Amino acid sequence: MKPVFVLLVSTAWTLTGAQHYYQGLMDYLENRLLAIEDRMQLWHDQSHRYHTEMQDFKKLTTEAVDGLRREHHSLFKDLEGAAARVDRAEREMDYVEMQTSPRACANMADKVVEQGAWGLEESRGEEEEEEEEGDWEELQSRVSDCVEIISGIRSVKILKRVGSPKGMWTRDPRSSKIYVFNGTSGDSVYQFNSVRDFSRSAGVTGSRQIRLPSDWSGPGGAVYNGYLYYIKQEADTDVQVVKYDLLSGTVTDSAMFPVESHATVYKLNPETVADLAADAEGLWVLYAISDSDPNIHLAKMDPTTLDIEQIWDTRCPRESAEAAFVVCGTAYVVYNTRLASRSRVQCVFDVNDMVISEEAPLLYFPRRYGSHASLKYNPEEKQLYGWDDGYQIIYRLTMKRKLLA
Ligand SMILES: *[C@@H]1O[C@H](CO)[C@@H](O)[C@H](O)[C@H]1NC(C)=O
Repeated sequence: MKPVFVLLVSTAWTLTGAQHYYQGLMDYLENRLLAIEDRMQLWHDQSHRYHTEMQDFKKLTTEAVDGLRREHHSLFKDLEGAAARVDRAEREMDYVEMQTSPRACANMADKVVEQGAWGLEESRGEEEEEEEEGDWEELQSRVSDCVEIISGIRSVKILKRVGSPKGMWTRDPRSSKIYVFNGTSGDSVYQFNSVRDFSRSAGVTGSRQIRLPSDWSGPGGAVYNGYLYYIKQEADTDVQVVKYDLLSGTVTDSAMFPVESHATVYKLNPETVADLAADAEGLWVLYAISDSDPNIHLAKMDPTTLDIEQIWDTRCPRESAEAAFVVCGTAYVVYNTRLASRSRVQCVFDVNDMVISEEAPLLYFPRRYGSHASLKYNPEEKQLYGWDDGYQIIYRLTMKRKLLA
């Protein structure tokens, strides 16, 4: 019986021991679980916090982005406003310029500055002056028989770019030959057989180079009917108009011109000493009498003898003028600003008094970045040969009849 008891006791003890052991294990596991749970709770809390923080951050950034977007929008609006204001200011400036400096007006030839040869009839009586009125009427009707006025610029063609920023090119209406005066002075002129030849040539190759017996001064020459007319002014000497026969290569005539040597006709192109224009009606000269005289003067010469037939004060200011040309006895003066903007005809002078202010065109040339060094009118084709920053440009014009004609 005793061993059984012993076995039982020992078994019970063992059982108790095992129980103990398992209990311990259970406790341990439970503790671990609790710890894990705690940690999970902690992670959960943390991730929740992160999530909230993330959301807050997202909200903040969205707000910031929205704010930036709003600011960008208002900035853009401001910029647009500023651009509109600049545009308006530019237009206003154009307007003010138009109102102030050279007026867009037609100046009547109601005052003949001097007539005939200078100083020949300095002392005249009243009677003689009245008599002159009669003569004047007669002169008026014969100064110009042509009755056209420019109504607009129909088209522009930029032909090519040859030579210096300043220069001059023109076409003899009678022979269709092209003459290129590169730069602002020199003794050479390039001749091409046609506009097409000129536009096809590389530079001035393929041209005939004409060496003149003296230098031409300023891009103010003219070619008509086989004669080349140019201004000659050797350092500080008087100004001369020279007539050169292109066929024989000789100077056929020259005449002094009564201008002060340093007075240039267009303030924006001081190299142009005087500007010649030849057409079927004669040889016209645009010039300045002296530096103190603010206006551009116009003279009509006999193209054969170079006699001065008549002179007028156009009352078109030299200030801000860049070029001018003569069409049918009407001088069109082109103005610009020192920082080249749009060239425009803003002063018109008709030797026949036929162009009235209302029909004087305020012509704007198409916007370009340079300015015209010269503008030469060709009466046969009714187009202008312009030299703009080294580009050779042709402007086609539209014409209408003068109202009073
Ligand atoms: C035009 O003249 C400029 C100087 O004024 C010169 O450098 C240039 O070579 C000339 N161009 C031609 C084609 O004669």
